[in-house]
Amino acid sequence: MRLFIDTGSVKEVEEIAAWGVLSGATTNPSLLAKEEGDPGEAIKRICDLVQGPTSAEVVSRDAKQMVAEGRALRTLSEHIVVKVPFSPAGLAATRELTQDGHPVNMTLVFSANQALLSAEAGATYISCFMGRVDDMSVDSVAVLEEIVDALRPAGTTSQVLAASLRNPMHAVQAAKAGCEVSTIPYKVLKGMLEHPLTTSGIERFEADWQKRPEFATWLEGLVREAGTVGAAS
Ligand code: E4P
Repeated sequence: MRLFIDTGSVKEVEEIAAWGVLSGATTNPSLLAKEEGDPGEAIKRICDLVQGPTSAEVVSRDAKQMVAEGRALRTLSEHIVVKVPFSPAGLAATRELTQDGHPVNMTLVFSANQALLSAEAGATYISCFMGRVDDMSVDSVAVLEEIVDALRPAGTTSQVLAASLRNPMHAVQAAKAGCEVSTIPYKVLKGMLEHPLTTSGIERFEADWQKRPEFATWLEGLVREAGTVGAAS
């Protein structure tokens, strides 16, 4: 399962992109509205940082206007994926945009039926919102599994994208359910790093190594001789 970051914040993308684990990003109108500055510049910078599919959402409810907004958003970067909210108009816009070669992320999909319709319209990604499903006391894992199971036998090329992740467990559940992508908020990505045994393990290795100062001198010398500082592998 590939990992995207779910944010409108360039600062967050800068930090996480440096880990080398991001394949893409998703934004939405709510996330962008929380940030200062020009949304177009933020989206372009996010595209540059992740160098992969970056969803930018249309806001119109009318199919024609959705298509116009989608085409305009695609001029921002080659990495833009047009995010379209699920609806009859959204399906029609998705069909038109994908026929013209524009990738579409169909968003706000909450059922296998909606996913089947989205796949048929040609959606590249189908976003199912785990957190919002759980908020309704409905099991988001069961919904995701049903979506994946419903799409697979037809051999659709649409990728299931788990969205609205609220905790690190959601990421593992999405992967086990067979989702191709998860889009994950900054805080959840940071949470995925954590394990007390990792922290204590690093501290113990460091403390043991420091008991032998001559080892540090040896390693410094080895790095110097190899000339590997900053060298590409
Ligand atoms: C991503 O594509 C969605 O817009 C996002 O994950 C929604 O998350 P939320 O339910 O936390 O707002």
